[in-house]
Amino acid sequence: MEGCRKSVCSWWKTASSSTRLLGFMLPLMVVSVMVVLMGYNSSNWFFDSGFYPWAWGSVYPPRAPFSQGFVPPPADGGIDAFQWRQTVVGGGGEREEALVVDYNLHRSAAPPLSIQVSAAEPPVTKKNDDLMNATNKSSDSRVLPLSPGINRRFSNLQILEAKMQQSRTAIRDARKESVIHDPDYVPSGPIYWNPSAFHRSYLEMEKNFKVFVYEEGEHPIFHNGPCGSIYSMEGNFIYKLEISKFRTRDPEKAHVFFLPFSVTSIVHFIFDKNSRDHWLPMKQTVSDYVELVAAKYPYWNRSLGSDHFMLSCHDWGPELSKSLPELFNNSIRALCNANTTEGFKPSKDVSIPEINLPGGRTNGLIGGPSPSRRPVLVFFAGGLHGPIRPALLEHWENSKDKDVQIHQYLPKNVSYSALMRKSKYCVCPSGYEVASPRMVEALYTGCVPVLVKDHYVPPFSDVLNWKSFAVEIPVGDIPNLRNILLGISTRQYIRMQRRGVTVRRHFEVNLTPKRYDVFHMILHSIWLRRLNVRLHGVEDL
Ligand SMILES: *[C@@H]1O[C@H](CO)[C@@H](O)[C@H](O)[C@H]1NC(C)=O
Ligand SMILES: *[C@@H]1O[C@H](CO)[C@@H](O)[C@H](O)[C@H]1NC(C)=O
Ligand SMILES: *[C@@H]1O[C@H](CO)[C@@H](O)[C@H](O)[C@H]1NC(C)=O
Ligand SMILES: *[C@@H]1O[C@H](CO)[C@@H](O)[C@H](O)[C@H]1NC(C)=O
Ligand SMILES: *[C@@H]1O[C@H](CO)[C@@H](O)[C@H](O)[C@H]1NC(C)=O
Ligand SMILES: *[C@@H]1O[C@H](CO)[C@@H](O)[C@H](O)[C@H]1NC(C)=O
Repeated sequence: MEGCRKSVCSWWKTASSSTRLLGFMLPLMVVSVMVVLMGYNSSNWFFDSGFYPWAWGSVYPPRAPFSQGFVPPPADGGIDAFQWRQTVVGGGGEREEALVVDYNLHRSAAPPLSIQVSAAEPPVTKKNDDLMNATNKSSDSRVLPLSPGINRRFSNLQILEAKMQQSRTAIRDARKESVIHDPDYVPSGPIYWNPSAFHRSYLEMEKNFKVFVYEEGEHPIFHNGPCGSIYSMEGNFIYKLEISKFRTRDPEKAHVFFLPFSVTSIVHFIFDKNSRDHWLPMKQTVSDYVELVAAKYPYWNRSLGSDHFMLSCHDWGPELSKSLPELFNNSIRALCNANTTEGFKPSKDVSIPEINLPGGRTNGLIGGPSPSRRPVLVFFAGGLHGPIRPALLEHWENSKDKDVQIHQYLPKNVSYSALMRKSKYCVCPSGYEVASPRMVEALYTGCVPVLVKDHYVPPFSDVLNWKSFAVEIPVGDIPNLRNILLGISTRQYIRMQRRGVTVRRHFEVNLTPKRYDVFHMILHSIWLRRLNVRLHGVEDL
């Protein structure tokens, strides 16, 4: 598949049926499999007041369909490695520290040993050896006429979950002191909440993570997407995943299942502005697809979508994810528009960067001069979309301070990217939606991003500490923009700028994905969300 290797995207590829029957079909037995989300509600250290623990450690309300046998979350002490925390930091005087939300990968508070040792363990959370024994047992029982398919499936699921438990333990035990050798890159320094835990988790992902891409669905809606423009991540991800080593053709080996539609394609080919309810045909497309794969394979029903994911950069991605309640509420939604007031949940969903690739490539986009050769203090240029930009322009357009370059449109003889390269700070305000390609443009050109966004979860903030390489200014502080930036010492600015150059690798788009680039970072975020979920077979209870 050519995919995004062509600079002009294969967007218009003619339809070719990719609907194939699987070589095997598992019996459609009524097997209910419980999803149990990891949780510790017993340990005080985890639930510090003032923090909203999420991801590893959060307990979701049981969902109705599980009521036939909802199991309380296991307390096996296995997944407290990262103590991911969402912190609400008051604005106050520390302006450069004033990220509204702060996703803290923190592991200084070690769990009391007693929790791991004494916790009463439900059968499924037994140690891995035991689990493997159990697995062997059920493999043996495959000869029983009763339910061969079920046993095989549970065996595979148990093996998968046992390996994931090993990964959780490895990540938890990652020590700051012991740097793991890595020929390409060793994460370190303050851009990460916890560099060694991230590194271990990344390596575990490379070693184990498998994604099943449903083959159903035809071009141009499915298995296809834009590789250029601001929605480039949709096509880029779909194509790269389909040819990557993370893809498995055996759904029994998969940790997660990808729903390979592009919202941009759906909007492009199905949106009808004359139809009375213009959402309806688009949402129908999504729900028909999920119903198709849910009827054909057992995986959607067994987890009610919890181990499935979709990815969208389009503004309408969040709305189309509401096509089915399970997709919105249970599935992992990888979205550029990570707007918490639109229901984005950092513990379950994944924030991905919006990256504008004009010709489908990053050629010429990356690189910029050193801090000393950046005479402009702060720069922005762009349309007056949404409520934040008019406020920005109102205060700062035509500023008498020459070092403030805030414009709606640039004069013809001035280049946007040249101005970014001349600037110390680049303002990245929300437009109509929270996502904008400016954050990545700023990082690419070595300009320190200034986030002016409400209710936004920045990309990869599960591992990246955005405060270390970006400034966040609350919308209400726009009138103080210049003072806030002038208040940051040169030393601190240089540090942030340098970190921005380091963190760039995580946002780079490569024709052939490279380790630690944006493709791998998106996968890593999905991997972490999957580690939060544990699937149980009824047999295990
Ligand atoms: C698991 O199997 C090993 C040998 O394969 C055995 O030594 C061990 O006792 C078994 N554990 C359990 C809990 O059955
Ligand atoms: C499971 O069975 C295989 C062979 O069927 C054996 O090699 C392996 O040791 C068994 N595992 C355990 C934990 O007993
Ligand atoms: C999954 O559930 C749906 C709706 O309840 C049902 O129509 C479908 O047949 C189920 N799929 C399987 C594989 O059993
Ligand atoms: C998500 O679940 C809640 C109930 O838990 C429900 O009220 C809501 O409608 C669901 N969301 C969507 C988009 O279906
Ligand atoms: C752009 O043109 C204007 C006059 O049209 C001039 O004043 C300005 O210096 C030019 N800017 C650049 C960067 O060449
Ligand atoms: C975030 O979502 C809310 C609720 O839909 C919406 O009102 C708001 O405009 C969104 N924010 C941005 C910047 O789009």
